[in-house]
Amino acid sequence: MNGLQQARDYEKQNRVPREKQPAFHLCPPVGWMNDPNGLSFFNGQVHLFYQYHPYSMHWGPMHWGHQVSEDLMAWKLKPCALAPEDSFDAKGCFSGTALEDNGKHVLVYTGVSQKDGKEVQNQCLAVGNGTEYRKAGLIIDGSMLPTGFSCQDFRDPKLWKRDGRYCLIAGNKDENGQGQIVLFTSSDLQNWQFESVFLQAKENQGQMWECPDFFSIGKQDVLILSPQDMEDNGQGIHNGHNAVAILGHFNGKTFEAQSEMQPLDYGLDFYAPQTFTHPDGRQILIGWMSSWQAPVSADDQKWSSQMTLPRELSIEDGKLVQNPVRELSSYWKNTLQFTDLEIKDRQEIPGVSGRYTDFTLAFKEPISSRFALELAGQGDTYTAFEIDPKHGRIELDRTHSGLHLDYVSLRRNPLPKQGISKLRIVQDLYSIEIFVNDGQMVFSTIIPTDESSDQIRFLAQEKQKIDLEFHEIDVQALRKNSLEA
Ligand code: FRU
Repeated sequence: MNGLQQARDYEKQNRVPREKQPAFHLCPPVGWMNDPNGLSFFNGQVHLFYQYHPYSMHWGPMHWGHQVSEDLMAWKLKPCALAPEDSFDAKGCFSGTALEDNGKHVLVYTGVSQKDGKEVQNQCLAVGNGTEYRKAGLIIDGSMLPTGFSCQDFRDPKLWKRDGRYCLIAGNKDENGQGQIVLFTSSDLQNWQFESVFLQAKENQGQMWECPDFFSIGKQDVLILSPQDMEDNGQGIHNGHNAVAILGHFNGKTFEAQSEMQPLDYGLDFYAPQTFTHPDGRQILIGWMSSWQAPVSADDQKWSSQMTLPRELSIEDGKLVQNPVRELSSYWKNTLQFTDLEIKDRQEIPGVSGRYTDFTLAFKEPISSRFALELAGQGDTYTAFEIDPKHGRIELDRTHSGLHLDYVSLRRNPLPKQGISKLRIVQDLYSIEIFVNDGQMVFSTIIPTDESSDQIRFLAQEKQKIDLEFHEIDVQALRKNSLEA
């Protein structure tokens, strides 16, 4: 039996029951998942592929798993799309991109293979109809890179069409082992030329640059990338692998940076995001809500990792801003609204609890002393989000979330200069995402906490007045809409 059929049979036979999984965060049916791949709109549906090893809870020979959605909330499983079984991708079908092209769904991914005793990474093409994909083999060989550029680290293509010409960028390393992004162009998707170094890492901007993504919002061009091995800068960049945005201008050859690296997420689990342009014009981002060093999962889980909520992107005051896609509101139920609530000490609010929730706090006055939330709580179990104006800190802490492993659990960041006026908290079964000040900062984390821990506690050192809008999420409707056709 071939590798693709084997993976399809395996995922069908071993699929984890949907009720044991998050309701609106995409996760694999079984086994390991990392980066989102090929996020695109094709034939009336959003398609999301992902790095996938169905056979274990660990990274292994990479396949492309596949799911689709009509509303970016309810995800339906499609059969596994690619398996590493050909000479050009025998060591793995690594991350890549997708595009609708003349009625066909075009995928370009990194094929990892062996050459002269070394692993090499090349860009490969597959074309399909939304379910079945036929591999067309290698289209950009590492040997097409200028001399000295790495053929071992040459991966994660992003493809787009501009003025009738295809542009493709990919992560790479230069002759000094420094991270860079290279640009190739083509008029027919088959024949490609090396065009230029799109952007090169400066000092302290990480080693290998993984998973580049490029788009425009109005006249502003934006580059997203995931640099490895960075050092904490006290401003949202943490040690290790980060995901950042750079605003700039693509002049047809290179990317002229106009901003510093802006961290995309200040929480514990976020990497390798991709974006696509929705037919209604929105630019939408989905990231891998996990981390290479700490892939948190509940003790008995047979599947690993989730994607973030899809997020609508905009630019405000020279900064990329992210908010949950508006489709989430169509699953709201049991809405409660409170005005001028006074919070003091630690308290719960009648009717405000649950693990599938979306709620917003608006602060009526500046936060003058410590203010915190304890989420997914019960007894000594909770995940804390705390604002400490005295020390100028905002932090997310999952130390007491039921985690038994020695994983990073606390992320502390400086308070934004303008203070905090609003918090929106979205919870699904094993995750929490917090959008601060209408998406100026986002904190994402996976928690392994049992579903029965469903208290939401409010804490204020001194009296704090808030407005609160609380919604439960209609899990049943989501499950129904996730059933395969
Ligand atoms: C990023 C990454 C990519 C690569 C993939 C392999 O998380 O390392 O660079 O294509 O994962 O699974």
